[in-house]
Amino acid sequence: MLRNVGDVDLWEIDNVIPRPDLLDRVVTADALYCMLTEQVDSVLLQAAPRLRVVSNMAVGVDNIDLLACTSRQIPVGHTPGVLTEATADLAMALLLAAARRLGEGIDYARSGQWGEFRPDLLLGREVHSSVIGIVGMGRIGSAVARRATGFGMSIRYTGPSAKPAIEHELGAVRRDLAGLLTESDHVVLTAPLNPATYHLIDERALTLMKPNATLVNVARGPLVDTDALVVALETGAIAAAGLDVTDPEPLPIDHPLLDAPNCVVIPHLGSASVKTREEMAELAARNVIRGLAGEPLEACANPRVYG
Ligand code: GLV
Ligand code: GLV
Repeated sequence: MLRNVGDVDLWEIDNVIPRPDLLDRVVTADALYCMLTEQVDSVLLQAAPRLRVVSNMAVGVDNIDLLACTSRQIPVGHTPGVLTEATADLAMALLLAAARRLGEGIDYARSGQWGEFRPDLLLGREVHSSVIGIVGMGRIGSAVARRATGFGMSIRYTGPSAKPAIEHELGAVRRDLAGLLTESDHVVLTAPLNPATYHLIDERALTLMKPNATLVNVARGPLVDTDALVVALETGAIAAAGLDVTDPEPLPIDHPLLDAPNCVVIPHLGSASVKTREEMAELAARNVIRGLAGEPLEACANPRVYG
């Protein structure tokens, strides 16, 4: 798609482009097609005098300085919508895995410990008919909520704005964060990372959660204070966690979260289905093409560039 509209300078090596190479190559670029591993900040923008569009192959844009892009009149494309359902599926997978102790069960079977049936083996917490608290009732949060109704869960949510349509459709009830944490059996984070959500789940928040509660994060790692989560999982302040994203990312191999039996960690796979990743790649390419043509992007994270 991109080769039809211009010369493509593709980073062919199958790992993240080193920052110096990126800064070197953006000098002549009219468009940048990037991922959440690239920091698009004022240093990069200064190195890229010709840049007219940035396209992130992700819905989250916390790796991009939106204000700096807006003040340069550079629209920033992202990929909302196409990844909503796949990410909500993964949130449910992590919730079920954490609550029903799938990680421990898999380890148990694989390591040869599986003996006779035991009625008290690896007992977990129930998901059906419980209370789910969704932090950030946006596109992905709403899709998680719809799935939760299939499990007979009742829904609490928190976020900067009320969602009357979701309240009406799913019986979701809005709470402040403290109320949500106190009432929920399972807490799922789907909010974007920004200064207001950084370390939203800190030591105090974890203390408010039920001792039997699970925490699921499919948003961004820094929403959670990692050290506080390690302590909460160790001391039993909460029962379990399911993490698709962590801080730092990747987690070093000797990190206590990878050792904790009550923590399921997977490597940022929220949107990682074949179909969804293809749709993201194509939407991100269309955003580049429209940006170069001077047309409004199909999905723009800083619509203020248009007035
Ligand atoms: C992935 O994390 C995304 O933001 O799309
Ligand atoms: C369990 O396998 C049961 O039959 O209850």
